[in-house]
Amino acid sequence: MGLALVEHELRESVRSSSPFINEAAGYLVDAGGKRFRPLLVLLAAQFGDPTRPEVIRSAVSVELTHLATLYHDDVMDEAPLRRGATSANARWGNSVAILTGDFLVARTSAILADLGPEAVRIQAQTFERLCIGQILETVGPEDGADPVKHHLEVLADKTGSLIAASGRYGALMSGADPETVEVLARFGECIGVAFQLADDLVDIVSETSQSGKTPGTDLREGVPTLAALIALSGSSPADARLRDLLSRPLSDDAEHAEALTLLRGHSALAEARDEARRWSSDARNVLESLPQGGARQTLELLCDYVVSRTG
Ligand code: IPE
Ligand code: IPE
Ligand code: MG
Ligand code: MG
Repeated sequence: MGLALVEHELRESVRSSSPFINEAAGYLVDAGGKRFRPLLVLLAAQFGDPTRPEVIRSAVSVELTHLATLYHDDVMDEAPLRRGATSANARWGNSVAILTGDFLVARTSAILADLGPEAVRIQAQTFERLCIGQILETVGPEDGADPVKHHLEVLADKTGSLIAASGRYGALMSGADPETVEVLARFGECIGVAFQLADDLVDIVSETSQSGKTPGTDLREGVPTLAALIALSGSSPADARLRDLLSRPLSDDAEHAEALTLLRGHSALAEARDEARRWSSDARNVLESLPQGGARQTLELLCDYVVSRTG
């Protein structure tokens, strides 16, 4: 019911009188997606009054923000596919993809202005962290810094931030008490890191039919993921070839396929999955202070879902 309302308002919120902009801005909305962030807003709102109209509007705002970052991320990652469709950058070029992302940020701002200064402040802090995460992922760790620690901070910033904001908005906009707001933001942060770690495993192990994305996009672009960083940190001579392949972008199709096969058979995959499970279990522990009931149970199920998904 709530999600159907979100869907309707989401579609309305990207409408434009220019037929081309209407098509480009509605493109990824129509392509689908899991709607994980709006779902979390709605679940967090169960701890207050979920019928308040601000709940739906904030759910639309987090999905719009997410969409904007997908348009931009696919430019940066040169990704050909998104949500099972040709990416906006592959279809219309980088300029249109970047500006369409900006257009969605503008539409988000209009919604947040109606929700008030606190909602705008949350968005500003969230978007800042998201940009920091994407920037620090791009430039990598400073000399001498621990690459895994750097990587986990990047994931918290680029993905945990918006999922934390989803928990925060849902609780806040439903009028839940301040402690509950903090608990749901903390929950979102932890499950968000688990979600991204699992997504990076999906990039390695799943096929396009499951994920709607091109497998090995991270490897292709030389974007470090936890499994790759763990494999890179080893010194076994048997892994020398994999380490060489992981240390650079792979434009050559044969090398890319080789790296994917080697990584799929490497124990680093299980270690990265363990890390995802730790974050998911931290998220579950955060829920302990919330009242027992259907909403808490569903959030617990979400903890299992994020680390078991294959697409
Ligand atoms: C993709 O997010 C980008 C990440 C943060 C991993 P989702 O996996 O939520 O993408 P959609 O919304 O379902 O397409
Ligand atoms: C997702 O990052 C984009 C943001 C969190 C802003 P990734 O580049 O890791 O995600 P996918 O694999 O393209 O969805
Ligand atoms: Mg990407
Ligand atoms: Mg990226």
